[in-house]
Amino acid sequence: MLAVVVTSKGRFEVRDIPMPSLNAGEVLVRIRYAALCYRDLLQLRGYYPRMRYPVVLGHEVVGVVEESRDPRFSRGDRVVPILHSIDGTCDMCLRGEEVYCRNRLSFGEEVDGFFAEYARVTGNSLVKVPDWVSDELAVLTPCVLAMLYRGFRRINLNMGETVLVTGASGGVGVHAVQLARAMGARVIAVTRSEEKAKVLGKFADDIIVGSGFSEEVKRRFNGGVDVVVEAVGTPTISESIRSLRAGGRLLLIGNVNPDETYQLRLGYTILKDIMILGNAAANRSDVASVFGIVKVRPIEPVVAAKYPLREFAEALRMLESGSRIGKVLLVP
Ligand SMILES: NC(=O)c1ccc[n+]([C@@H]2O[C@H](COP(=O)([O-])OP(=O)(O)OC[C@H]3O[C@@H](n4cnc5c(N)ncnc54)[C@H](OP(=O)(O)O)[C@@H]3O)[C@@H](O)[C@H]2O)c1
Ligand SMILES: [Zn+2]
Ligand SMILES: [Zn+2]
Repeated sequence: MLAVVVTSKGRFEVRDIPMPSLNAGEVLVRIRYAALCYRDLLQLRGYYPRMRYPVVLGHEVVGVVEESRDPRFSRGDRVVPILHSIDGTCDMCLRGEEVYCRNRLSFGEEVDGFFAEYARVTGNSLVKVPDWVSDELAVLTPCVLAMLYRGFRRINLNMGETVLVTGASGGVGVHAVQLARAMGARVIAVTRSEEKAKVLGKFADDIIVGSGFSEEVKRRFNGGVDVVVEAVGTPTISESIRSLRAGGRLLLIGNVNPDETYQLRLGYTILKDIMILGNAAANRSDVASVFGIVKVRPIEPVVAAKYPLREFAEALRMLESGSRIGKVLLVP
């Protein structure tokens, strides 16, 4: 089968590899869509120290069960995996905190991922996709919507609060805008581009264009917002923290340039009484919660482009390009 194999830091090949064979408890998934994520780019560039070589890249996927050695799944079931292969038996898994599984292995990093025609996945990591969820929405649920839902849950997002989203045109950003709104928030999208702002107008309540946004936020939104979703990192975090009201919360999701550091002003953080919460990945329960939310408050999967698996290099260029809005999908 065809797959995108990372062979060493910064190097990949699109080539044929043997079909995976199943052990007890595992499921063979025929892939319908895989999605690119900025994380793939960072993994390719060598920022993830646990990367094993060679490995099939990709951690966002929706597919159909082709063969099952887990009695919970049958041929034909439509499924999405969470971001890790988990044991399902450790204390963290038993508490429902699968993101902290003591024996977790990250797909596309420590075990083969999903930029391929088929994938072998433990049944412990899978969630069945209900019929009201499209493939385009399902593929971005675990790493984007359910990851964000878990973050909003952890910072106690309440109905009627104001949420500011940085990098609002990105794969994370444009869906964070929609999820926060679906959860009853008033949402302000921040983007660098006037062009993108026109499109984002469809999803956000308010839009601010540019890099110095905190003064405008404070002036227009009662001295500051309740919550910021920081999807960019060092280029915007200083303005994001300034945009919070006293007692506000910052959900730290992305950092597009891991070589840069940010000096947190401790006194300001303490006296402003703010919370900064790092958040990654999702549990199966978060995926199920998002499927429930979108049944009553539809979320539009924003897809910038779809590429055949063979054209992975093109898809990667699209991911790196500044003009895109939303996700890039691969079709095996
Ligand atoms: N915590 C998690 O579990 C998780 C999950 C997925 C992704 N992430 C991380 O979240 C971040 C975004 O991922 P993504 O897949 O959404 O990437 P993406 O689609 O490329 O979106 C990033 C957005 O950030 C903005 N941006 C990029 N570089 C910037 C810069 N130098 N200055 C200001 N804005 C910049 C752009 O939006 P505008 O042009 O609109 O400003 C861009 O669309 C990445 O760091 C990724 O690793 C984290
Ligand atoms: Zn991802
Ligand atoms: Zn576990």
